Amino acid sequence: MARILPISAFQFIIISSLLSSFSMILVSGEDHEFVKPMDPELFGLKKEKLTHFRLYWHDIVDGPNPTAVTVVQPNSSQTKFGMIRMIDNQLTLGPESSSKLLGRAQGFYASASQQDLSLLMAQNLAFVQGKYNGSTITLMGRNSLSNKVRELSVIGGSGLFRFARGYALLTTQSFNASKSDDAVVEYNIYVLHY
Ligand SMILES: *[C@@H]1O[C@H](CO)[C@@H](O)[C@H](O)[C@H]1NC(C)=O
Ligand SMILES: *[C@@H]1O[C@H](CO)[C@@H](O)[C@H](O)[C@H]1NC(C)=O
Ligand SMILES: *[C@@H]1O[C@H](CO)[C@@H](O)[C@H](O)[C@H]1NC(C)=O
Repeated sequence: MARILPISAFQFIIISSLLSSFSMILVSGEDHEFVKPMDPELFGLKKEKLTHFRLYWHDIVDGPNPTAVTVVQPNSSQTKFGMIRMIDNQLTLGPESSSKLLGRAQGFYASASQQDLSLLMAQNLAFVQGKYNGSTITLMGRNSLSNKVRELSVIGGSGLFRFARGYALLTTQSFNASKSDDAVVEYNIYVLHY
């Protein structure tokens, strides 16, 4: 059995501050401008908040004005493995395509499973309304189409979404298999940001 060495809080503070100043010397080296610690408050990062967005994502593959374009065709018709589609999909307030435009989902999705219909999704949600105009949320994750609810990760963002993290829950609102899989998907995004 391993013996636990008794160590007082005071000793712990001394040892850890020695270790951290030693690593500071290692990191800063000769170039003192290369890296420096910053106070998040001076950077305007005061309080992290949680925001919920609900919006509708329109994947238009069919018709004269598609917003999802297949750039790599799949070889397997069952799982569409290997297929890649670039998207510039509308994000709207309600499920109808005539609903108010909130932004666009720009990126791609790729069929990444040989066993079922599962997509790798990588997209930036670029907002165009109000205070969010010009800010983006970056989503990435696995979209297994056989699941009723799918989850993507918020892996970052820009503008108001700097340092963002969180997740998005996806549920299909409508789907038309006779129109090359045109779909409207509800996105519920929970994002921590400053
Ligand atoms: C499909 O098959 C062709 C011919 O075998 C090959 O050149 C191509 O890279 C394959 N594409 C995918 C996405 O697997
Ligand atoms: C969003 O920002 C762009 C570029 O700055 C601007 O042209 C546009 O009018 C803005 N839209 C709204 C709704 O504020
Ligand atoms: C699906 O698309 C077809 C062809 O455009 C259309 O006739 C049909 O009404 C659509 N179905 C739904 C449920 O939107």
